[in-house]
Amino acid sequence: SKVWAIVPAAGIGSRMQADRPKQYLLLNNRPVIFHTLSRLVSHPQIEGVVIALSANDPYWPSLNLPADWPVHTTIGGDERADSVSNALRLLQNLTDTNPWVLVHDAARPCIRHSDIDAMLQQLGNDPVGGILGVPLTETVKRVDANNHIEATVDRSGLWRAATPQMFRLMALSEALTQARQANINVTDEASAMEFMGLNPKIVAGHADNIKITLPQDLALAALFLQQQEN
Ligand code: CTP
Ligand code: MG
Repeated sequence: SKVWAIVPAAGIGSRMQADRPKQYLLLNNRPVIFHTLSRLVSHPQIEGVVIALSANDPYWPSLNLPADWPVHTTIGGDERADSVSNALRLLQNLTDTNPWVLVHDAARPCIRHSDIDAMLQQLGNDPVGGILGVPLTETVKRVDANNHIEATVDRSGLWRAATPQMFRLMALSEALTQARQANINVTDEASAMEFMGLNPKIVAGHADNIKITLPQDLALAALFLQQQEN
């Protein structure tokens, strides 16, 4: 059965220091968000996408997405978790089942179909769900307040969390609601599920699924997109 995607795209991209939110910067002649949505709507298992936008987002109307893309818009919130909660609320009106939902950052345009396939295969029968991630490759240090090294942290078992993050619609909305009521700061969906005492699984993804965050990330993403086409 089919799954849905949710794309939080209501951030302002402060670390990018550009003249507009990073999801609207051009990457190989197309806005970042165009690439991201294209990858999602073209996946055969994805039924549709709910995207959370800033209120009165002036850039969205000029995107001119193909009319046949199944993309539904809603308004985002102050925190990423609020944007996702709003999108989940809209999605509850679009489906009468409790589908798997893939939450995917607007700022990750290099997501591969093969990574989505791996998630669906490895998590489709899981009771909780999970996320895409990448093992740490660098040596990790813990430092004191003056940046003096206190310890070298054992790297084994440490991963960088990426997106998509795949959970059941009802379980994820409940977890985000509970985390909000407890005033827990959740920076990804898995954190909310962990707060509920659950143990989401990590599926190993490709390292080129970068989150565009800093100015130099744009050139990297442009290269990765070109490489993936060949
Ligand atoms: N996001 C969102 N609503 C928010 C904050 C973030 O929908 N209130 C989205 C962003 O648009 C992005 C994703 O969550 O697609 C990941 O967030 P991040 O990389 O932190 O983007 P920004 O918050 O826009 O960037 P910055 O933190 O540098 O300001
Ligand atoms: Mg942010």
